[in-house]
Amino acid sequence: MSNSSKPQWVPLLEQQLKENPKSTTYAFSTLSKEGNPKVRYVIHRGITPSSLLLTTTDTRMGKPEHLAHSPTIELAWWIESTNVQFRITGQAVTIASGAETDFDKALHVLGLKAGQEEEGKAEWWENERKKLWEGVSGHLRAGFGRPPPGKKLDEVESSDKWPETIPAKSDEPDEQKTIDYAFSHFAIIAIAPQAVEFLELKPIPNRRTQWRRQADGSWDELKVAP
Ligand SMILES: Cc1cc2nc3c(=O)[nH]c(=O)nc-3n(C[C@H](O)[C@H](O)[C@H](O)COP(=O)(O)O)c2cc1C
Repeated sequence: MSNSSKPQWVPLLEQQLKENPKSTTYAFSTLSKEGNPKVRYVIHRGITPSSLLLTTTDTRMGKPEHLAHSPTIELAWWIESTNVQFRITGQAVTIASGAETDFDKALHVLGLKAGQEEEGKAEWWENERKKLWEGVSGHLRAGFGRPPPGKKLDEVESSDKWPETIPAKSDEPDEQKTIDYAFSHFAIIAIAPQAVEFLELKPIPNRRTQWRRQADGSWDELKVAP
C-alpha cells in the first residue's frame, strides 16, 4: 500500500467519525470453518498509517479461529445521524502477543512488506496492542481475565469469583499476574480493505459510491445507481 496515496474513502470515513464520534460500532462478518457467515458487532479502534482498520478481540472467541481459517471478511457500518453506510470487504488477521502470532503470515494477508511500512514491524503491533489495552475501560479489560468465552457456565468457576475490573498495569505482583493473564488474551484484528462502498441516504436521490483496490495498490472509483 506504500506505493499509493491515501485511498479516497479514508478521509471520508474520518470526516464521518469526526461528525459522529459515538458511531464506533459496526457489524463484522467472518466465515466459520464450515463456510457459514458469522456476524457480530465490534468497536472501531483506529485506522493505521497504511489505512488498515483496527478492532480488538479476545483470542478465545470465534473470530480468531474463523480468521485463521479464512481471512475474508465484510463489515457494515451505519452512521446514524448523517445516515450513511460503509460496506467494507477485505482480508483480516488476528494479531495477538508476539509468541502467538505468525507475523509473516499476517503481513502477507494484509498486503504489507516486512519492515517497509510502520506496520511491517512486529514492535509496531505490540506497541499498538499495549496502547489499546491501556485505552479500554477496566471493565472491558476484566473480560479478558474471565473464563473462556463460550464455555458452558456450569463448567467454569462461579461468577462471584470473576474479576469485575482490572487496571492496565499494577505494582502489586498478584494483581500483575491477573493482568498478564488477561492481556495474553487481548488481540488486535487488523483489516485490509479491498472494496469499499459508501451509501448516502440523506441526499435525494441517494448516492452510492464504490472503490476497489487495484493490483498496484491504487483505488478505482465507481458511482452506481443507489
Ligand atoms: C455494541 C457492541 C460492541 C462490541 N464490541 C466488541 C469488540 O470490539 N470486540 C469483540 O470481540 N466483541 C465485541 N462485542 C461482542 C461481540 O458482538 C460478540 O458477542 C463476541 O465478540 C463473540 O463473538 P465471536 O465468538 O463470534 O468472536 C460487542 C458487542 C456489542 C453489542
